[in-house]
Amino acid sequence: ADGVSLDPYRPAFHFTPAENWMNDPNGLVWIDDRYHLFFQYNPEGADWGNMSWGHATSPDLLTWTEHPVALPYRDDEQVFSGSVVVDHANTSGFGDGVIPPLMAMYTSVYPDGRQAQSLAVSVDSGTTWHPFAGNPVLDRGSHAFRDPKVIRAADRDGRERWVMVAVEAERREVLVFSSDDLREWRHESTVGAFGPGGVVWECPDLFPLDVDDDPLRQRWVLLLSINPVGADADPDGSSMAYLVGDFDGHRFTPDESPGWQRLDHGRDFYAGVTFDNAPDGRRIMLGWMNNWRYAADIPTAPWRGAMSLPRELALRTIDGRVRLVQSLPRELAAIDPAAGETLLDGVDLDGVRRLPIGCNVLLDVEWEPRGARRIGMDLLVGDGTATRLSYDVESGRLSLDRSNSGHVDVHPDFPSSSRALVPLREGRLRVQLAVDGCLVEVFADDGAVTVSDQAFADADAVGGAVFADGPSTVWVRRRTALAARDDPD
Ligand code: FRU
Repeated sequence: ADGVSLDPYRPAFHFTPAENWMNDPNGLVWIDDRYHLFFQYNPEGADWGNMSWGHATSPDLLTWTEHPVALPYRDDEQVFSGSVVVDHANTSGFGDGVIPPLMAMYTSVYPDGRQAQSLAVSVDSGTTWHPFAGNPVLDRGSHAFRDPKVIRAADRDGRERWVMVAVEAERREVLVFSSDDLREWRHESTVGAFGPGGVVWECPDLFPLDVDDDPLRQRWVLLLSINPVGADADPDGSSMAYLVGDFDGHRFTPDESPGWQRLDHGRDFYAGVTFDNAPDGRRIMLGWMNNWRYAADIPTAPWRGAMSLPRELALRTIDGRVRLVQSLPRELAAIDPAAGETLLDGVDLDGVRRLPIGCNVLLDVEWEPRGARRIGMDLLVGDGTATRLSYDVESGRLSLDRSNSGHVDVHPDFPSSSRALVPLREGRLRVQLAVDGCLVEVFADDGAVTVSDQAFADADAVGGAVFADGPSTVWVRRRTALAARDDPD
C-alpha cells in the first residue's frame, strides 16, 4: 500500500481488536513478564452483544498480541466486566502448588436479567480459563450489581485478605466486600449514593498511592465511571471521576465532601481500571476510548472500540490540592529514542507554522506566550478540517475542539469542544500529545489534566500546525514515530 495505511482510523500504538466490538478493559494483570488485557468483546459482530472476555497480551504495554476469547458467553450467561488477581498464596485452593492461580472475578448476566459475581480460574498464567462450578459466588438478586474489582488489603488488625468493590449501578452505590478465599464474601460497607442522579455508576477501582512520593502520606483513590441514562440524559455522555480518601480495609472515607474530581476532560475516556501485580508497585490504568452516547455509531470497521494508552498514576499536591496525575509509562518513551526528533527548538512564532507530523505520533510541545493571547496546535489537518488544541492565555483555558475534525456527523452529540483549566508554569504551557489514527490524548500540567477524544478525520488528514496570535516561542519534539499498523514495512 505504498506506506499509506489502508485504515487511517486504526491506531498503530493503541490496542484495538482485529475485528468486532470492544468496550471496557477487564482483568488487567501482569504475570510472567507479560501484561494481560481482557476486554468486553462481541466475538460475532461490531455491535454490543454476546458479551465475552477477549484477550490480548503485551511485553511492554505498547505492542499487543490478540489471543482467542478467554471467557466466551453462553446462551444462559453473558460475561460482563470484572478483574483478575494473582492468588500468590493459593488462598482459593485452586492452585496446583507450583504456580499461583490467576483468579478472574466477573459479572454473570443471566437471561432473567440478574447480575451476580462469578469466578474463573487459570492455572497456566492466563492462557486458558475455567469458570468455577459453584458460580455465581455472590448473588444479591439484583439486576444492576456488577463490575467487581478485587484487591488485597489488610483489615483493621493488619490481617491481609481479599477486598472487592462492585457497584449497585442504578442505586449509585459502590459496595465493599471482603473474603479469605474469593468464594465467600462478607458485605463491609457502602459508598454513596451521592452526586447527581440520572446516571449509573460503573467500573469502580480502589488502590493506595503515596502523595508526593512520600510513603508516610499514603491515600486511597476510588475510581468511578459514570454514565447518564434516561430520556433527558446529559448529551455529554459517559465520563470518569475519582475521589481521594482513606480506606481502613473496611470502609472508604473521602477526604473532601463531595470531593469528586474529573479524571479526564475529554469525551472519550471510560471504564478505566488498573493492573493487578504490576512490577515495582506501579499503578497503571487503561481506559476505553469511547463514549456510550455514540459508541454504537463510530465509523470504524471491521473493528469498533480502542483502548487508551497505558497511564501511570500518582498523587501530587498541586496548588494545595491532592490530585491524581497521569503520565505515560517509561516503556513508551523508551521505545525508539533514535526516532525522536526535535522539530522546533525554541523558535519564534507569530502566526501559523505547518509541521509534517502525520497521524501516528507522540509529541512534547511547549509554548512561551510572549504577548500572544491564544496559542495552540492543529492536528489531523485535512482540507479545511482539523482537530484543534488551543489555549487562552488570559483565562488559562485549554480546549480540544473536534467540531470541525472531519466526519463529525457520527452522532448529533459528537461535535464537541472539551475544556479544562491549566495554569502556565514558569510562563510556559507544556503538553504531551498522542495522535494515533482516530485517537487524540492530551496530557497537560504534568498529567494533572488529560483530555482524550476520538476524531474521525478525512482520509488524507496527515498535517499539523502550531499557531500563536502574537509573539511566542515554541518547542516541538517528536518522541517516537511509529509506522501505521497496515504499513507493509
Ligand atoms: C461499562 C459497562 C459495565 C458492564 C459492561 C457491559 O461500560 O456498562 O457496567 O459490565 O459495560 O459490557
